[in-house]
Amino acid sequence: TATVDRALESLQAGEPILVHDAADREGETDLIYHADAVTPEAVSRLRNDAGGLVCVALGHGIAEAFDLPFYTEEIDHPAAGSHDLGYDERSSFSLTVNHRDTYTGITDNDRSQTIRALGSAAAAPEETAFSDEFRVPGHVHLLKAAPELLEQREGHTELGVALAEAADLPPAVVVCEMLDDETGDALSPVDARTYAERHDFTYLEGRDVLERLE
Ligand code: 5RP
Ligand code: CA
Ligand code: ZN
Ligand code: ZN
Repeated sequence: TATVDRALESLQAGEPILVHDAADREGETDLIYHADAVTPEAVSRLRNDAGGLVCVALGHGIAEAFDLPFYTEEIDHPAAGSHDLGYDERSSFSLTVNHRDTYTGITDNDRSQTIRALGSAAAAPEETAFSDEFRVPGHVHLLKAAPELLEQREGHTELGVALAEAADLPPAVVVCEMLDDETGDALSPVDARTYAERHDFTYLEGRDVLERLE
């Protein structure tokens, strides 16, 4: 569809897009940028306008190349034992990281440095010594896409990575939930659309992406 094409062009141009997963899933709209485009100003937009958790979703193969596990596979704690998410079979969380050249890791400059370095790493995994470049734990949450992407899972993790791939970009995107400053709940699709229109950003439904790319 024309909207998906516009979204791919936006990602290529370094502009954010908004993606609502589905009313019967999280019912959340994430603000998404390609990792390469995440300047300090973009981090500022993510925390001020979106307000959720700033995460970088990586393609499964890239995450495997860097030995990045699913968080629940590595943590030997009873709280990580049973998967009882209300909206999906499992979480896509992997580790948290900071680029080694950051100080605290949380400032807009530090997070943008970490995120852009993840974009470069995803573009050239063979030339990346991941542990030399990043430290764990950090202030950017990594998400690891399902191996078969949208055939296996329909989260923002997979939607974002699939869109990056369709745009011929390395499989690394930033995702952050849009929250409502008045209620504290997920921003409604109507309000998310209004925000997108106000800023001339593309708004997509997960099903638009599924119909086009699955
Ligand atoms: C991490 C999350 C977000 O919803 C993010 O979109 C990744 O999760 P998913 O792939 O399950 O949608 O919870 O902040
Ligand atoms: Ca806000
Ligand atoms: Zn999500
Ligand atoms: Zn979420």
